[in-house]
Amino acid sequence: MKFFVDTAEVDDIKDLLTTGLLDGVTTNPSLIAKSGRDFKEVVAEICGLADVPVSAEVAALDTDGMIAEGEHLARIAANVVVKLPLTFDGLRACAHFKRNGIKTNVTLCFSANQALLAAKAGATYVSPFIGRLDDINLEGADLIRDIRKIYDNFCLDTEIIAASIRTANHVTQAALAGSDISTIPPGVIRKLAHHPLTDNGITQFLKDWEATGQSIL
Ligand code: E4P
Repeated sequence: MKFFVDTAEVDDIKDLLTTGLLDGVTTNPSLIAKSGRDFKEVVAEICGLADVPVSAEVAALDTDGMIAEGEHLARIAANVVVKLPLTFDGLRACAHFKRNGIKTNVTLCFSANQALLAAKAGATYVSPFIGRLDDINLEGADLIRDIRKIYDNFCLDTEIIAASIRTANHVTQAALAGSDISTIPPGVIRKLAHHPLTDNGITQFLKDWEATGQSIL
């Protein structure tokens, strides 16, 4: 499974890139607003950090507006992925970008039928939001499982990005459900390696090692 980080904070992205575990970045208008930075400037900076896909979302709601904004964003860097909302206008724009060799991430997906449409429109990625489904007492991971099944039934090559990840357990659920990618907030990525028994084990091993009086180097 590939890991994307869901943030517009450049320092977090730089730090996580050093792990060698990061395969991409997703942003959205809320994350850009939170960063307090100029949208195009921050996208350009993120794109320059590593040759990984960086999703940047359009703000227009009509197809022509999305195409104009998406083309503008795609000119920022070769690794920009144009993020489009899952509406019929967004799907028309998605088909346009597919015809023109520009990668897309169709976002705000909450049903299997929406994901089927995104794949038919030629989306590079589709982003089902599992956390927001869990928020309203539905099972976000079930949606990932359904999309995986449908895409496999018809050999559709759109990649599934499990989005709206809130917990480390969401990452496990997305992986078990067959998601290609999870896009994860930095704080949750940092929790993935943590286990109290690992910490306890290190403490005990270190204590026993020190008692031997030896050194490795
Ligand atoms: C995905 O691309 C979105 O940016 C993100 O995962 C949304 O997460 P949220 O529901 O926590 O806002």
